[in-house]
Amino acid sequence: MTGQLKVRVVRKALVAEDICSFELALADGGVLPPFTPGAHIDVWTPSGAVRQYSLSTASTSAPASYRIAVLHEKVGRGGSRSMHIDVREGDLLTVSVPRNHFELDASGSPSLLLAGGIGITPILSMAHHLSAQGRPFSLHYATRSQARTAFWEELTGRGLRESARVYHDDSPVEKKLDIANTLGLAPDGAHLYVCGPAGFIEAVLKQARAAGWDENRLHREFFAAGPVAIEGDQAFDVVVVSTGKIVRVEADQSVTSALSAAGVDVATSCEQGICGTCVTRVLEGIPDHRDSFFTNDERDAGGQFTPCCSRAKSARLVLDL
Ligand code: FES
Repeated sequence: MTGQLKVRVVRKALVAEDICSFELALADGGVLPPFTPGAHIDVWTPSGAVRQYSLSTASTSAPASYRIAVLHEKVGRGGSRSMHIDVREGDLLTVSVPRNHFELDASGSPSLLLAGGIGITPILSMAHHLSAQGRPFSLHYATRSQARTAFWEELTGRGLRESARVYHDDSPVEKKLDIANTLGLAPDGAHLYVCGPAGFIEAVLKQARAAGWDENRLHREFFAAGPVAIEGDQAFDVVVVSTGKIVRVEADQSVTSALSAAGVDVATSCEQGICGTCVTRVLEGIPDHRDSFFTNDERDAGGQFTPCCSRAKSARLVLDL
């Protein structure tokens, strides 16, 4: 299928407690499609679940392999467990070509890179790229403990050690990441890039906004979705504009599942509002955004939503389908 690649797992390694890295090369040899720092790929896990994983290596125009790292989510929906348990070196996997919703600003401004836990993966790729380009940056990586710190040797090796600092939650308070202080030390005009658990990202963005950072200097990539279903959710209608068909979305149903039951298929991938695959234009009505994909500005601009998880504030939405 277009946009998919057959890759072989050429290396699997435990890089921290509950975190495995996988190096993926084209199954029939050759050079993989290029990517830019911050990019991710979809991985079809042996369980059948499709998951998004950021590429953690330095970007290149002709990569021989992609490296991803996967946190084993014990309470997750099985995708990460399948990667940890079912996938072995030598196995074949299907992945998508890289996509990037977390691009570095092209202006050359200083970069402040903040990672929480497994959020280090795209941040590490950015750091390698910035270091190779000689662009100013600092990297701050917060983990629960030394044992759960992936890529420690890489971060403390040549090229990154001067710019990277690692913090652990189990350290004394003066050695933990102080978000406000870190933001305050950033050079004027710096762009902020943050990736990690939703709570970490929200905390960083909240502090940055409170400190007066412009929205266009804030960039984030989520790895886990926020709550999608909310108590008190109501049913509503969606109208498929091409046919005029009206589809009822029940209170406990997603728009995509209601549409699918009515014979209208929308392409999906993460089904958690993270990847953007399902983005659909809204021609009328008010979406209730539940995704982690759009920025606040994009939401304010209106006109589109993620039907895999978002709902409606109005009685109906007219969709460009
Ligand atoms: S399928 Fe990923 S955002 Fe909807």
